[in-house]
Amino acid sequence: MKGVVLAGGLGSRLKPLTKVTNKHLLPVYNQPMIYYPINTLINAGIADIMIVTGGNSAGDFLKLLGNGKSFGLKHLNYTYQEGEGGIADALSLVEHFADDEAVCVVLGDNIIEGNIKTAKEDYERQDKGAKILLKKVHDPQRFGVPELDGSKVLQIEEKPEKPKSDYAVIGIYFYDPTVFDIIKTLEPSHRGELEITDVNNHYINSGTMTWNELDGWWTDAGTFESLLYATNLVAETGANNLELRNAKGNLTAKNAK
Ligand code: DAU
Repeated sequence: MKGVVLAGGLGSRLKPLTKVTNKHLLPVYNQPMIYYPINTLINAGIADIMIVTGGNSAGDFLKLLGNGKSFGLKHLNYTYQEGEGGIADALSLVEHFADDEAVCVVLGDNIIEGNIKTAKEDYERQDKGAKILLKKVHDPQRFGVPELDGSKVLQIEEKPEKPKSDYAVIGIYFYDPTVFDIIKTLEPSHRGELEITDVNNHYINSGTMTWNELDGWWTDAGTFESLLYATNLVAETGANNLELRNAKGNLTAKNAK
């Protein structure tokens, strides 16, 4: 399985900070934001990684990450998204890199307390389709929100005014190689973007979408409020903790400080 970190877009919600640099290079506590999604992939055992960047300061990603040596990687791949065509548009750029393998996609502003090893292993037992990860939140209106019927996901709505559950679809997705054909069929949404929610609904409609609930905290860091929240969470508990076990078993979140 290959790994993809999507760090394109213009970070408009973090202006003026993003007038002079890229959102994913901003600090979250003691590390640049992009370190967290990279570690999420590495902790899941995924070492062949592509970074999709865009907007301002793209060259600074190379300066910061180089060939990935400081993460224990042999190599890092990069590509550049022009404009802000949406998450699915950014993902379309990695078709050649994926080379008919499944991909685990992590949004560059998504940070988790634990790890996604269980979800990855579950997805590997699934011979086709996609998997999303859900997390209960107090403000589902900000996210993609699933409508659930027991363990079945019926549909996902992007930033609904009246959410049909109190779960958010977090920005970590597993896709089979048909994802690139699905993206080619999408039309831009009212915000002018190719939406990842449309990709996910496509898998739901074809009956090949599964989901897991993520253990440990999760947050995005794309607004001033969530950036502050993320910084405080990381400072208090640490992120990308390998030992965080399934909450139904024994939770062993250790304090990183
Ligand atoms: O954080 C999870 C949420 O992320 C999901 O619940 C939503 O369903 C999903 O649409 C997304 O919502 P946002 O509106 O918060 O996404 P945002 O535009 O902030 O983009 C998140 C990351 O995706 C961003 O840090 C970099 C990447 N991205 C985004 C866009 C618009 C790109 O690489 N290229 C893009 O054009």
